[in-house]
Amino acid sequence: MFEKYPKEHRYTLAMLQDLQKEYGYIPKEKLLELSQYLDIPLSKLYSMATFYKALSLKPKGRYIIKVCDGTACHIRSSKSLLDEIENSLGIKPGETTKDGKFSLEVVNCLGSCAIAPVMVINDRYYGKLTSSKVREILREYGGAGDE
Ligand code: FES
Repeated sequence: MFEKYPKEHRYTLAMLQDLQKEYGYIPKEKLLELSQYLDIPLSKLYSMATFYKALSLKPKGRYIIKVCDGTACHIRSSKSLLDEIENSLGIKPGETTKDGKFSLEVVNCLGSCAIAPVMVINDRYYGKLTSSKVREILREYGGAGDE
C-alpha cells in the first residue's frame, strides 16, 4: 500500500495516516514494513505515531467517545462527565475497554461551545450534558456500569 508514494521521508506522515485510516490504528508489522520501505529507523516512526494525536498504535474501540475539555465545557463541569464515563466503563482517557467496545479521549474544543458541555460518540454530538444524561447515553450503547 506504500507504493503509491515515492520512497521519500517527507511522505512518512501521509503513509502513517493511510495506515491509520485503513486499520483504525497502526499495526506493528505495518510500521516495520514502512520502516524498511523508507529506510527510516523504527524508533523514529514510533515517536511520530505517538506524537500525532490522530495516530494510534493500539486498536481503538468500536465507539470512540470524545469528551470536550475546552474552556466553555470545562467551566460547565466537563470533568464530572469524564468521571462518570471513567467510572462506568472502567477506562481512563487514551484507553479502550477490554471488550474493544469503547475508547475514551479528551479533546480541546468540538466547535459546539453553545451547547457545552459536549461529547461526541463516533460522529454523534451530545450537548448540555449532565452526569445522569451521560449515564443514560452510555446505557443506550450498552456500556452502563450498573449491569
Ligand atoms: S469548548 Fe467544548 S465545544 Fe468548545
